[in-house]
Amino acid sequence: MRIPIIGGNWKMNRGTPNESKEMLKALIPLIKKSDNVEVMIAPPFTSLIETFNIVKKTNIKLGAQNMYYEETGAFTGEISPNFLKEIGVEYVILGHSERRNIFNESDDLINRKLKKALQVGLKPIVCIGEHLEERESGRTKEVIKSQIDGTFKDLDKEEIIKTVIAYEPIWAIGTGKTATPEQAEEIHIYIRETLRQKFDKEAANSIRIQYGGSIKPTNAEDLFRKANIDGGLVGGASLQADSLAHIINAAEKTIN
Ligand code: 13P
Repeated sequence: MRIPIIGGNWKMNRGTPNESKEMLKALIPLIKKSDNVEVMIAPPFTSLIETFNIVKKTNIKLGAQNMYYEETGAFTGEISPNFLKEIGVEYVILGHSERRNIFNESDDLINRKLKKALQVGLKPIVCIGEHLEERESGRTKEVIKSQIDGTFKDLDKEEIIKTVIAYEPIWAIGTGKTATPEQAEEIHIYIRETLRQKFDKEAANSIRIQYGGSIKPTNAEDLFRKANIDGGLVGGASLQADSLAHIINAAEKTIN
């Protein structure tokens, strides 16, 4: 059985050390301490230590929003995966569409980051998803396939099983326009099928695939009820304790 994972990606929207502390102190009493749903919060780098000090006594996992693929060296402005590990980071989001589109990250770069994350023992959450024009021209599956081929190049089965995929259609991110549960499920099934062909059935069935894109308290439960949707990566609605708690509790409901 796959344990759903709800991730809060705060992006650069919010998350000074004080804001992070305030948000988490409000969130913790609102969610059950449960082993059925995994919860991960990815604040900005500058709040990771502060956040770790709060979440270490809870079930909440700490995530980073990015990392570099080298462990050390003259790479001004980049963050080594080892720096993240030492301060308690467990998950790292890689290849978010904002990294791909605004900062020109390629599948090849994301592939290098992914391999390094796995090598040092960080758990990667790799984002894939299509643009609106690609969906409208019927190319969604082609785009997803090519992202999977590029991003997961030369990975073996043990490595892919440790990876979480976030299907985040770009047209749904921050737009208030969520994919319907049926639209999301169709692509999640396609992702699993592609992984089955590339790896095997066991890998395809064990990997967790989150949905991301305008998840809200009002649509979360319907999305999470779909058999192939294993939780969500939440942006805007993860900034407020009550809406994130609602989404986490919705995932919990779909288990019971
Ligand atoms: P929104 O939930 O704000 O649409 O963002 C989704 C996202 O990009 C999570 O990584």
